Amino acid sequence: MTKAIMRRTLRPIAFTLALLFVLSSAGPAQRARPAVSAKNVEIERKINALLARMTLAEKLGQLQQLDGEAKGNYRPEHLEMARKGLLGSTLNVRGAKMTNELQRAALESRLKIPILLGFDVIHGYRTIFPVPLGETASWDMSLLEKSAAVAAAESRAAGVHWTFAPMVDIARDPRWGRIIEGAGEDTYLGTQAAIARVRGFQGTDYSRPDRILATAKHWVGYGAAEAGRDYSTTNITERALREVYFPPFKAAIDAGVDSFMTSFNDLDGVPATANPFVLKDVLRKEWKFDGLVVSDYTAVMELMFHGLAKDEADAAMYALNAGTDMEMVSRFYNKHGEDLLKRKKISMTTIDESVRNVLRIKFRLGLFENPFAEEGREKAEVFKKANLDTAKLAAEKSFVLLKNDNETLPIKKSIKEIAVIGTLADNKAEMNSNWAGDGQPEDPITVLQALKDKFPQMRIRYEAACDPKCETDAGFKKAADAAKDSDFTILVIGESSAMSGEASSRSNIDLPGRQLELVKAVHAAGKPYAVVLINGRPLTINWVAENSPAILEVWFPGTMAGPAIVDTLFGDANPGGKLPVTFPRSVGQIPIYYNQKNTGRPFKASEKYTSKYLDIDNTPLYPFGFGLSYTKFAIENLKLDKLEILPNEKLRVTVDVRNTG
Ligand code: NOJ
Repeated sequence: MTKAIMRRTLRPIAFTLALLFVLSSAGPAQRARPAVSAKNVEIERKINALLARMTLAEKLGQLQQLDGEAKGNYRPEHLEMARKGLLGSTLNVRGAKMTNELQRAALESRLKIPILLGFDVIHGYRTIFPVPLGETASWDMSLLEKSAAVAAAESRAAGVHWTFAPMVDIARDPRWGRIIEGAGEDTYLGTQAAIARVRGFQGTDYSRPDRILATAKHWVGYGAAEAGRDYSTTNITERALREVYFPPFKAAIDAGVDSFMTSFNDLDGVPATANPFVLKDVLRKEWKFDGLVVSDYTAVMELMFHGLAKDEADAAMYALNAGTDMEMVSRFYNKHGEDLLKRKKISMTTIDESVRNVLRIKFRLGLFENPFAEEGREKAEVFKKANLDTAKLAAEKSFVLLKNDNETLPIKKSIKEIAVIGTLADNKAEMNSNWAGDGQPEDPITVLQALKDKFPQMRIRYEAACDPKCETDAGFKKAADAAKDSDFTILVIGESSAMSGEASSRSNIDLPGRQLELVKAVHAAGKPYAVVLINGRPLTINWVAENSPAILEVWFPGTMAGPAIVDTLFGDANPGGKLPVTFPRSVGQIPIYYNQKNTGRPFKASEKYTSKYLDIDNTPLYPFGFGLSYTKFAIENLKLDKLEILPNEKLRVTVDVRNTG
């Protein structure tokens, strides 16, 4: 590492840091809003007053959420329903102009109850941050909070009140496409990430003009989909629910989260959307949650496919009685509510309770006082320079250096000719990834562009080699020639954004298509190169891990992908991320995670009857927490302040850390 780089990235002098690890469950986050306050008492009074005036149709209307159009427009029907007070909420409608028009219609209704505008702001509104799994690799909770706060400020300015994030599902199966959306495999890290993101979205008062309501989702067990196949059934003991899957949700509540989304899966045969154990016993009774529970998209309707409900009315009955307050997209509460009431399948008390939960949120959001977004504010706030700077920093901090033989990286700035290979090096839209809010496909800066901007004098040869599916090797020869003729090659490979996310599970998590052949072709050129890996999940990259000189894991970095990657490759930023999830050697090892329980027959190479495979090591390719750096650290003097602790006690562990690079 050169001195210049050291000066910019890490202080060159040795330093000592006392690190503190608290080896117990995450302490309760400071509750952001006291449960009983004068404000809340006043809100309950207002809710009672409203409820007393509402017709059954108006009550059921508050429990309905409908989907806007993909580009953010409301549908004509929404205006009509809002004017009649029959639409409580929408999802996807966004932008100050659109949301204001719809809000105006809602305020023309008899009781003037404002509409609640939700949207999936998962890793940014318009300024797109790294995907949540990637951002978690920073282990920097203040960064997670900051990026959520930026996303909140942009969203609220654009008329959005409510995000369906953070996803706090613990996920230990990289085949599951939605592993990209969470904080990875570890419950403790997951709780910290949940707290940070809730605080970022909501602040201490989400009625403020730069905050939004957050949602802890998917309640619960969605990340444990069997075989990693999205929407599949689960098999989780209550103990595992309580120890592994519940804690991030509880931490989110303690941090003030005021909405939950039910999950698509069943738990012990009972769909989560109609599951009184998790929705009533745990959430409301044990945890005293007084916020809003929304179903996932058509999850009420899906109760019929689960085999629980025999028809639409039955589905509405099960979901409402279990405690799902608001129905997303399907319309069974509204269609069958009156009849169910007549038949005494649901009670008015149940309906009122759910309506209360919706109205409570609307009051806490301050929608009755400030229902509109300001178009001027939207222009000033959304995609502003400061937000892009935060997005670049977040991207840099999410990068994990998986391999760096012989200090292949950072690349010397003095090189004259560089080859850039891979279609993902020059594809803006792909950098946004999936669930990219209102991010526009033309917004991101690519690696190729950033390189040209940073080094206008450098000779850059670009070869796409193949498209993201990479089904043909027609471009490989040109790519290998470019590598041969250059001093250094940046090889950008991995998954396209459509290969992870919802409904995007993979049974094979190798590099897609013929990309491994491409790596081998570039490798055979015999020149130095670094692999930049873009992906939404752990991949099985054994050959690359063994043979390529350097690998930089960059996930999907968002709007500022190119500048962050190029600055890191050239040493103006130091990759300090650590994996929040294990990278297996083979899908056959899944589930593989760092804190598996003991076996009575631990692995011993010399003994046959121990826990192992015949054809592969037990160890992962890269373990949870793995990540190199451009410098080196010495960790010495590990001390524990006690040698024994009781279950609820804390233990202080200190070490000296010296930057020896
Ligand atoms: C389905 C997804 O499971 C959920 O996470 C998302 O918030 C909703 N659709 C709304 O888009």
